[in-house]
Order: sequence, then C-alpha cells, then structure tokens
Amino acid sequence: MEMSAGQVTALVGPSGCGKTTILKMINRIIEPTSGRIEVGGRDIQGMDPHALRRGIGYVIQQVGLFPHRTVAENIATVPKLLGWDRRRTRKRVDELVEMVGLESEMYDRYPAELSGGQQQRVGVARALAADPPVLLMDEPFAAVDPIVRVRLQEELRSLQAQLQKTIVFVTHDIDEAIKLGDQVAILDVGGALRQYASPEEVLREPANAFVEEFLGQERGLRRLSLIAVRDVSLEDGPTVSSDAGSAEAKEVMAREGVNWVAIVRDGKLQGWVWESELEPGRKMGDLAGRPFLVRVTADNTLREALDAIVTSHNQVAVVYDGERYAGMLTLNRISENLVP
Ligand SMILES: Nc1ncnc2c1ncn2[C@@H]1O[C@H](COP(=O)(O)OP(=O)(O)OP(=O)(O)O)[C@@H](O)[C@H]1O
Ligand SMILES: [Mg+2]
Repeated sequence: MEMSAGQVTALVGPSGCGKTTILKMINRIIEPTSGRIEVGGRDIQGMDPHALRRGIGYVIQQVGLFPHRTVAENIATVPKLLGWDRRRTRKRVDELVEMVGLESEMYDRYPAELSGGQQQRVGVARALAADPPVLLMDEPFAAVDPIVRVRLQEELRSLQAQLQKTIVFVTHDIDEAIKLGDQVAILDVGGALRQYASPEEVLREPANAFVEEFLGQERGLRRLSLIAVRDVSLEDGPTVSSDAGSAEAKEVMAREGVNWVAIVRDGKLQGWVWESELEPGRKMGDLAGRPFLVRVTADNTLREALDAIVTSHNQVAVVYDGERYAGMLTLNRISENLVP
C-alpha cells in the first residue's frame, strides 16, 4: 500500500482491526513480524528509530497530553528533546498556538484545565512542533462533540492546505474519512485491506460486500457531499426580466412546468411570485415578490444544495454569485450528476 506524500490517507475500519498498530509500525513503536515499511523511499528497518521519529509527528489516541506539564511545555516536548534554545522554542510555541487556534493565556494551564477540544488542539500543536513532514493522527477528534468536531475538521483542512504534510489519519467514522482523506483505506479485522481508493471511487464503486456494508445507507447523499456546486452546470430556471409582462411569465411557467416564476432585475433576483398572483397589464417588476430564503453559492456542496431544494417552496436551490443571480439547481439536475 502506497500513501502519497503531501496528502491525507484516511485509515478507517472497525475497532480492533489494527489501525493504531499500523501507525505504531510506521514510527517503530511496534516492529512488524514480516513485510517492509518505507518512509520517503527508505526502509525504516535500517533507520535509527529516534531519527525516524523526529520526522514524524504523532497525535495519539485519547490525546495523551502529559498531565503534569503545562500547555506550553507539552507543545515544546520535541523541541526540548532536540535541544532547541529557549528563544527558538518559545517562538515556535507561539506560532503553533496561533496556528491551531488556541489563546496565549492558556500557556501555563495544565491539560485538565482545558476543554476536550482545546486538548485536541494542543495534541495537534505538539505533533507539529518540529515541523515533521509526516503526521500520524489517531482518532484525533473522537473525544469532542459533533459541533467542535466539525470545526476541528475544517481547521485541519485549512492547515493542511498551507502545510501539505503527509498525513495518516485514523478514524472510526466513515464520514470523517471521506471528508478529510485524499485517499481512503478501508480495513477489516485482522488488518485486511478491503479497498484503497479516493473517497469518490469508494462511494461510487464499493469493491465488495464488506465495504458496502461499512459505508452503510445514504451512499448517494455522501457522494453529493463530495461534489461542489461550481462543478455542475446550472439551469436558468423559471425566470423573467422585470420588464416582462404577465403573458411572458405565463409562457415561462408553462415551459418549465411550474406555477411560479422568479423576477430578475439587473442581474439580481427581485423575488418570486405564484401564478395566481400575476396581474395582467402590470410589468413583472411592479410585483413585490417573495425572497428566496435559502442561498447557495458555488462553494456549497450538492448535498447542501439538495437540502435547500427540499426545504424550499419552489423545490429549487437558487445559486448566487455574490448578490447576483447565477442559476438554479433542481432535483433532476443533481441526480444527473450521480447517475450519468
Ligand atoms: N500490545 C498488544 N499485544 C497484543 N495484541 C495487541 C496489542 N495491542 C493491540 N493488540 C490487538 O491488536 C488488534 C489491533 O489493535 P489496534 O489497537 O491496532 O486496533 P484499532 O483498529 O486501533 O482499534 P480501535 O479503533 O478500537 O482503536 C486488536 O485485536 C488488539 O486487541
Ligand atoms: Mg486504535
């Protein structure tokens, strides 16, 4: 199995399948009984374990901060081992605290005086201290509530966009693996590798029954979360210009097979009206119209667009480019992207 440099490989599988063991073999806390592990093209068996570990940051399962060391001391663990002087260490701690979104008031606190999410951040900062090219992360966000978890996931994503570390990320959670992994490895008990592919491919074509069962329900919805609105072509939708009259609006509704129409003025949406609200003899721009309540942009995922569709009166997701109207997405259009 090859993990690409500068990318996130997510290892996912049931409890006891050997995820932690794999991480521990990569930094030689556990020696493999057979086979070979290379890091950066070098067989690690022939390397000094300490030298090897200096290039590998490790965020261990259950955070594992040293309880009797302060936040700053925890983060400075590896720099201290490497014999950095106080100024250099302090500067690095400052950088890391800022990078992972902690406050400098926390330097002198002990781990027990932090929330779960703050402890996780200290764990990540400690692993990054000596700027190792490789990062092993063992369920780093398992112990926090779903809201903090999503925030930490987002932070890791933006951190990784800057740092481009080679990350091996272990999780139980298939959604987390799909969200964070450039590649996803699905493991079965006994360390058996059942599929190793991009998240998109795993969801589109599960390699076997185990993977299919592991992915569970809602594979289609999960695939939608991997596609951005910017990647699909939008529809014009039932729209008329504010200069148009009600006859033209009726034509548009008939053509689109709906009983409402949206009014566009100077590239912006003025609002939408039901067919029963049209007033013959008046321009469409004279009607007030209701606002579309849910806004979608190119950055949203198709899953979020779908949510907008099912919660709107009009069964469409309206896509904006800043304040301008960009187009609409319908259920049909979204489904076309899953079933070509
Ligand atoms: N030191 C050890 N000696 C013998 N067996 C061990 C040892 N450590 C772990 N195991 C066993 O090896 C298997 C894999 O354990 P490992 O900790 O890698 O699982 P995991 O996938 O990380 O599980 P979890 O998701 O629960 O953390 C398990 O059956 C476990 O009981
Ligand atoms: Mg484990």
